[in-house]
Amino acid sequence: MATAREHYSPFTLTLHWVTAALVVAQPLLVWLSEDLPREQHWAAVGLHKSLGVTVLVLTLVRLLARLAGHRSIPLPDQMPDWQKFVARLNHGLFYALLIGMPITGWAGATAGGRDVSVFGAFNLPAFPMVPADRALAHNLMELHEVAGFVLIGLIALHVAGALKHYVLDRDDVLQRMLPFLPRRA
Ligand code: HEM
Ligand code: HEM
Repeated sequence: MATAREHYSPFTLTLHWVTAALVVAQPLLVWLSEDLPREQHWAAVGLHKSLGVTVLVLTLVRLLARLAGHRSIPLPDQMPDWQKFVARLNHGLFYALLIGMPITGWAGATAGGRDVSVFGAFNLPAFPMVPADRALAHNLMELHEVAGFVLIGLIALHVAGALKHYVLDRDDVLQRMLPFLPRRA
């Protein structure tokens, strides 16, 4: 049973909030740089790629940590089963997209014959088994874009859920991720 006082470990909190900040910055970086001069737009896209690779690494670390026993805290017993299901489904889809988005971006770059530099330090290798093919590059980037919109929708649902816990349910679910907030229980 979940106790009201529990919160996530500093390790999980750091990974959650760094990932959240990066994921919110990613679309903004691309869209807000669209009208900039070419060179600055490409610099922003370069940063977008490096940050995307960072998200991939952080998400893999997070999944490995989960497998190694860093489990989520059970949701409150009074929460209806369908809400628990939606919350877990949303988390699962987050993990899928936080891996799928960098993969489509990386594979799209390989198909388009472009390098993926990671903060100027080194280049990722070509994505395995992806040929240079303009049509494939286009399709992969379309998929990347659609996945971006799905991710934004899931974030909206996730944040609405977190705020519902805080404002309507008045339980301590949000406090598990924001331990400095006052507890209700
Ligand atoms: C913006 C991108 C975000 C992403 C990608 C994201 C992702 C995730 C994921 C994957 C989990 C599940 C952790 C696990 O059990 O494995 C989680 C939990 C959680 N997130 Fe987020 N999150 C984001 C933003 C936010 C924001 C803005 C809030 C608060 C307003 C928030 C509040 C929470 C809370 C309270 C939990 C814990 C739920 C529980 O105790 O089971 N998240 N988040
Ligand atoms: C969590 C990771 C990522 C997220 C959330 C994300 C999200 C997005 C979004 C929303 C767009 C705008 C799509 C559009 O309107 O056309 C975009 C564009 C793009 N992304 Fe990502 N992306 C991520 C990772 C990556 C990675 C790892 C790469 C490459 C290795 C990449 C390469 C690109 C490229 C080349 C564009 C097109 C930029 C342009 O030409 O304007 N992305 N991404």
